Amino acid sequence: MRTQVGIIGAGPAGLLLSRLLALQGIDSVVLENRSREYVEARIRAGILEQNTVDVLTEAGMGDRLHREGLEHRGIHLQYPGTRHTLDFPELCGRRVWVYGQTEVVKDLVAAQLAGGPPLHFEVSDVAVEDVDTDSPRIRFTDADGTAQVLECDVVAGTDGFHGPSRAVVAEGTRQRLWERTYPYAWLGILADAAPATDELIYAWHPEGFALYSMRSPSVSRLYLQVDPSERIEDWSDDRIWEGLATRFAHEGWEINTGPVLEKSILPMRSFVSAPMRRGRLFLAGDAAHIVPPTGAKGLNLAVADVVLLSRALVRLLQEKETDLADAYSDTALRRVWRATHFSWWMTSMLHTTGDPFDAELQLSQLRRVCSSEAAARELAENYTGLPY
Ligand code: FAD
Ligand code: DHB
Repeated sequence: MRTQVGIIGAGPAGLLLSRLLALQGIDSVVLENRSREYVEARIRAGILEQNTVDVLTEAGMGDRLHREGLEHRGIHLQYPGTRHTLDFPELCGRRVWVYGQTEVVKDLVAAQLAGGPPLHFEVSDVAVEDVDTDSPRIRFTDADGTAQVLECDVVAGTDGFHGPSRAVVAEGTRQRLWERTYPYAWLGILADAAPATDELIYAWHPEGFALYSMRSPSVSRLYLQVDPSERIEDWSDDRIWEGLATRFAHEGWEINTGPVLEKSILPMRSFVSAPMRRGRLFLAGDAAHIVPPTGAKGLNLAVADVVLLSRALVRLLQEKETDLADAYSDTALRRVWRATHFSWWMTSMLHTTGDPFDAELQLSQLRRVCSSEAAARELAENYTGLPY
């Protein structure tokens, strides 16, 4: 088998890269180790920046997004006694959309299988070779158990945090890693309950952070800060709803409850690896970096990487110019560090640590964001996504 770009991983990064390259006349093959059902059901991010919506729309992926996605013009920031609304269009002229990552992935998979580049699910034993030459290759075993070799001009490692690509970069470069694990986790639920709020609520509470989000006019997505050692089996639905009601308590307002469709506990970490390239192997998305979810940057950052990478690969493979490919890692990392800082800042402002000094600093910062237009604008610009 031969292709121009071999893509490892059919998450949002790999699928979108394949689509953007196809639109520019570059062929690719996407290899995914999970099944289509698994990839399409994996519940993750929910908020799309304006940039992400624009990219998906320009890539012909906007039909269902514009029909079913919910356009949002702000967020509520809450701390005891206060629920303050930040109006993004007023603050920075931009907005965000609620449209689940599951839906983005379903749209991209459907387009790919309807005449797009080849997409192979349930492959195994993926190994990348010869990335320091102009003809790297990927060895893998296909879903039928047959060993295959994919000869490529370039390999894209879009295989997420646990994929094999980052280690291949480490073997041939002076890779640097930065990591912060946080002393809290998120317990997330998907509930068959109409959201009791127009905008997302980010709530600081002495018992811990809570986030009220949604997936549709009838489905809510809610998160509670918990200790990372907590086990989901110890959290009955009643216990979760009680915790949420306490943390979102606000005079004259009540949460809507309903059947819990899914629940899980997510660890939180910041992680950056550099460079995002070794020879003809380029990393994008979670393969190179992870942000804690507060601020909803993970998926949006993966899309930003892929936009840059697709431009660099078009220039490299069609015009035989290496400038954008050579600049890719440094350019991508500048945005990565901005999002890393913003996600760390939102996380630090909103999650209780048990230390009363931290709590006073957090409340002071929240009051500042809710009373100063300059402080509110700084949050709004980062949240809605800085221009590419
Ligand atoms: P991924 O979506 O991880 O895709 C990588 C793909 O590569 C996967 O399909 C994987 O199966 C595949 N793969 C891995 N190894 C191999 C291999 N050896 N061979 C072939 N394929 C392989 N972000 C937010 O903004 N908000 C959130 O609420 C949020 N919640 C999250 C919850 C969880 C549990 C996780 C893990 C992440 C969450 N994120 C969230 C982050 C966001 O989902 C990611 O940033 C986003 O998925 C990154 O896309 P990606 O394509 O780079 O990686
Ligand atoms: C969602 C996740 C986030 O991390 C966030 O900041 C906002 C919304 C969500 O899953 O809906």
